[in-house]
Parts: sequence; structure tokens; C-alpha cells
Amino acid sequence: MKLSKIVLSAAALLTINGSAFAQFQNAEKAVEYRQSVFTVMSNHFGRIGAVVKGEAPFNKDELAKNAAIVAMLSNLPWQAFGPGTEGGKAKPEVWSDNAKFKSASEKMQLAVADLNKAAQSGDLDNIKKTFGAAGQACKACHDDFKKK
Ligand code: HEC
Repeated sequence: MKLSKIVLSAAALLTINGSAFAQFQNAEKAVEYRQSVFTVMSNHFGRIGAVVKGEAPFNKDELAKNAAIVAMLSNLPWQAFGPGTEGGKAKPEVWSDNAKFKSASEKMQLAVADLNKAAQSGDLDNIKKTFGAAGQACKACHDDFKKK
């Protein structure tokens, strides 16, 4: 009895969250959302990049925080590329070749998860390696799916 109540309320919560995430008032709102996420993600990714390039000092805790933010944000843009949200700097191929786009987004999320793992452990060599791979994953998708 109790357990089924818990399961039911968990399901209700998921439904609420799911619909809040899936819905945008219109295409402009979706474009605004994904561009905002990319902008903030890129900012925190860039802070890690500065350390990797030796332009900023390596502070393990700071870097770990930035990597966790990037990892969290890396999950968010994709829900805002739904049908009917064409526009912004996204090429039409996002929708016409959606399987490839999806696979590029998954590659990047995995690469960023690796970077986050390295960052949490504080191993700078590994941070450099995984940062490079993550940067490649950004660029690979931009080459195919983002207007210059
Ligand atoms: C699977 C594809 C894909 C991946 C991976 C990807 N991006 Fe993007 N990115 C896009 C697309 C498409 C746009 C254009 C969005 C729009 O204008 O609607 C974009 C836009 C941007 C923008 C511009 C936002 C604006 O306000 O115009 C930045 C900055 C950015 N991405 C950073 C990154 C970074 C950093 C990474 C990697 C950590 C990354 N992206 C990974 C597809 C991707």
C-alpha cells in the first residue's frame, strides 16, 4: 500500500518534470533556451580551457565545480531541438539528419562526463586529455550542424 503510493507520486513528479522540459511556448523560446544553455556551458568550459592552456592557475576545487556545471548543462540543450523549433544558428540538418545529430550530442555528453570524472579526481594530465576530446566533440557537431 505504502510502496504503491510512493511509486505513484514518483510517477506524478516525473510527468510534471517531463512536460515542463518538453514544452516551449514557441520556436523562439526554444532557440532562446538552447542558446542560453550553450552560452553558459561554453563559459564554464572556457574556464577549464584557460587552465588547460596554462592561462589560469590550476585550482582543483574550482575546476571540479566548473566541470560539474558543464556536465550538468550538457544534458539540457537537446530537448529544445524538437520538431518545429528550426531556427537560430542551427542548420536544417539538425532535423533532416536527426539520428546523426543525436549521436553527436551523445558523444559530447560522454566526453564531458569523462572530463568531469578527471576533474573530480584532480589529475591534471587526465583533465587535459579529456578536455581535448570534449572540445573535439563540440567542434565535430558545430562543423555539421551549426551555422558559422
Ligand atoms: C550535437 C551538436 C552540438 C554539440 C555536441 C555542441 N553544440 Fe554548441 N551548438 C549546436 C547548435 C546546433 C548550435 C546553434 C543553436 C541555435 O542557434 O539555435 C550551437 C550553439 C552553440 C553556441 C552559441 C550560442 C549562441 O548564443 O548563439 C555556443 C557558445 C556553443 N554551441 C558551445 C558549445 C560547446 C562549448 C560545446 C561542447 C562542450 C558544444 N557547443 C557542443 C550544436 C552542438
